[in-house]
Amino acid sequence: MNLTCDFSTRTVLVTGAAQGIGKAIAEFFRTAGARVAVADRDASELEKAWGSPSQTVLPVAMDVADPTSVASGVGIIVDTWGSVDVAVNNAGIARDSVVWKLTDDQWKAVLDVHLGGTFNVTRAVVPHMRKAGFGRIVNVTSYTGMHGNVGQANYAAAKGGIIAFTKTVAKETARFGITANAISPNAATAMVAAIPAERLAEMTETVPLGRFADPSEMAAAVAFLASEEASYITGVVLPVDGGVSM
Ligand SMILES: NC(=O)c1ccc[n+]([C@@H]2O[C@H](COP(=O)([O-])OP(=O)(O)OC[C@H]3O[C@@H](n4cnc5c(N)ncnc54)[C@H](O)[C@@H]3O)[C@@H](O)[C@H]2O)c1
Repeated sequence: MNLTCDFSTRTVLVTGAAQGIGKAIAEFFRTAGARVAVADRDASELEKAWGSPSQTVLPVAMDVADPTSVASGVGIIVDTWGSVDVAVNNAGIARDSVVWKLTDDQWKAVLDVHLGGTFNVTRAVVPHMRKAGFGRIVNVTSYTGMHGNVGQANYAAAKGGIIAFTKTVAKETARFGITANAISPNAATAMVAAIPAERLAEMTETVPLGRFADPSEMAAAVAFLASEEASYITGVVLPVDGGVSM
């Protein structure tokens, strides 16, 4: 086998690609030769991050929580490049509160973006992957989705749901040459910068590697799961977390 992790024939969709982990993942794929559709809800942030469309980068304004927006965004990618070979469901938000204070809006917003968004995108791309006989879906879950976290019942439920969703999609699509996997990251992004300093210091102490990762350190793991070479890996959650989950 030729171990190249070559993406020059691949079209990749990354959601939440205007910043943070999504932007780093998209940059990695672009460097690896892919055509990359960078999707985010905020068109101006997308433009700031990626500029105008080019032969290898297609910014797509897409609200993953809205099925119509996702269908139309995926339609644009397929019209432009003919396929979506890899989909990375990364877009995310946090609306934290202890459960007895969690509002309907906070609950719904987080479930809609993470779990709803992952579903909306997966449903839209799988028919194209089936047609191609090849597909790689990589979802972004969280340690919180497996172990819970104070103040994040909505986020934990959504991320836990993504794990169950990933395994089900893996089983449903395996016969079409499609794999579905997830990563559980731990990286210094805006989402992490919003954590109060004292709590962040406590959290850092629990990381065996002693630090939060640079977002780019998430990208290689995603690219591996999305590669041709990872053809026999499906339904797994890969912690890319500096050892936190050991
Ligand atoms: N940073 C970490 O350590 C960490 C840990 C566990 C899980 N995660 C997960 O990793 C993913 C990326 O997190 P991050 O830290 O880079 O966050 P971030 O806030 O830096 O980036 C999230 C991106 O998602 C976009 N987004 C939000 N709602 C959207 C929507 N409805 N439609 C389209 N785009 C939308 C935002 O505009 C933003 O660009 C999230 O799913 C998050 O839950 C992050």
